[in-house]
Amino acid sequence: MSRLSDDFLWGGAVAANQVEGGWNKGGKGVSVSDVMTAAAHGVEREVTDGVLPDRYYPNHEASDFYSNYKEDIKLFHEMGFRCFRTSIAWTRVFPNGDEEEPNEEGLMFYDEMFDTCLEYGIQPVITISHFEMPYHLVTKYGGWRNRKLIDFYLNYCQAVFTRYKDKVKYWMTFNEINMIVRKPWKPGGIQIAEGENKLQTMYQAAHYMLVASARAVKLGKEINPAFVIGGMFLHPTSYAATASPDDVLASVKKLQEAYMFLDVHVRGKYANSYYHFLERNELIIETQPEDALILQEGTIDFIGFSYYSSSVAIANPATQNKSEGNEISGYKNSLLPASEWGWQIDPVGLRITLNWLYDKYQIPLFIVENGLGAVDTVEEDGRIRDDYRIEYFRRHVEEMKKAVLEDGVELLGYTPWGCIDLVSAGTGEMKKRYGFIYVDKDNDGKGTLQRYKKDSFYWYQECIRSNGETI
Ligand code: BG6
Repeated sequence: MSRLSDDFLWGGAVAANQVEGGWNKGGKGVSVSDVMTAAAHGVEREVTDGVLPDRYYPNHEASDFYSNYKEDIKLFHEMGFRCFRTSIAWTRVFPNGDEEEPNEEGLMFYDEMFDTCLEYGIQPVITISHFEMPYHLVTKYGGWRNRKLIDFYLNYCQAVFTRYKDKVKYWMTFNEINMIVRKPWKPGGIQIAEGENKLQTMYQAAHYMLVASARAVKLGKEINPAFVIGGMFLHPTSYAATASPDDVLASVKKLQEAYMFLDVHVRGKYANSYYHFLERNELIIETQPEDALILQEGTIDFIGFSYYSSSVAIANPATQNKSEGNEISGYKNSLLPASEWGWQIDPVGLRITLNWLYDKYQIPLFIVENGLGAVDTVEEDGRIRDDYRIEYFRRHVEEMKKAVLEDGVELLGYTPWGCIDLVSAGTGEMKKRYGFIYVDKDNDGKGTLQRYKKDSFYWYQECIRSNGETI
């Protein structure tokens, strides 16, 4: 094979909570992201006790995709997108999460948005839950601590699978499901209390989410056998800090923790190492007799994953500096440059990741997030010269192509993160921009919300037009 296939899914990715805004429009309920304040590089976002009147919540208006989606999708079309990854806001469909009937106005919004995509020949690629669940499910039930969440999630899946069965083919059950055992608020609505056994809570929630994901896959296939349903996984690409076998073992262990999720997603059962991990840490996970069969029957069709950077693992952490990165980070690699937010830039790491994942699981992969968060400057004439972003993408696309064309990895597509500027999930900042399209808004929420095409817009347009040949 010398070229990517003609149906390779070039596109872009966002999440409802970070781009839509309209947080209380159309009957939408409050979500876990609506109670997170803005922070800054190196500062954690605060989770407030409900929405407080004197605080600024950046996700409330975000990039106002809710009002601008028609124009924005038109711009995606201009770039040549063949697909658009976004999520459905659970709170638009079930504002509290425990209602029996969905909110019609919320469903209509996605009907119209998906129709707009389809009119332009853009396939929606939908994450069912992306860092956004009803806040009510947290206050009343404790979030994914509670097994009841499985039924609420399934009720939500039933509503969206049925409603969009002829509009959406590609689905993913949970965004970055493995984040639940590291930072459980955004994916699971869980805040760890003082003195609580953190591992116990997080691994219990992980089991419930894996059961929910498997049931969703089975349900989706019953509703439309042509659905292609994947999982979504944060790949914490990690190398040994040195050739010392102890460092190599540390990197093996780090990946093992993460792969536990894919073992279940892809093979329908936990690996032995998981049970040993539970035993070592004295964790007792509540399961039901039917869980084993549910996991077996709900395996995924493809692995969607995010890849931004890599880090190193080390046996003796005292000797190395921590690196920053996408929630699950590690230690610094002196051979790699880093972004302004400290995320180490490693294009070859993308090729390595694709090879690791494909060798291990042998099912199609989908790069559903990749990109560079950077500060952009609008010049007097309105131009944004983001050559640093172009360089990042050029080198990653190059390595992605090598993985497909030279190494034989089966890859469905590539959707760079934050194709239009949006609120950072980690910091709540606007100035950490990923987009090909600039949105005029600052960290304090000021700005016209006007859209501008960055230089990278034209670069990506040409990349897609040439099917990845001209980069
Ligand atoms: C991934 C998430 O973790 O990384 C996105 O799926 C997130 O929601 C992205 O925005 C980039 O992280 P950040 O913190 O720069 O927004």
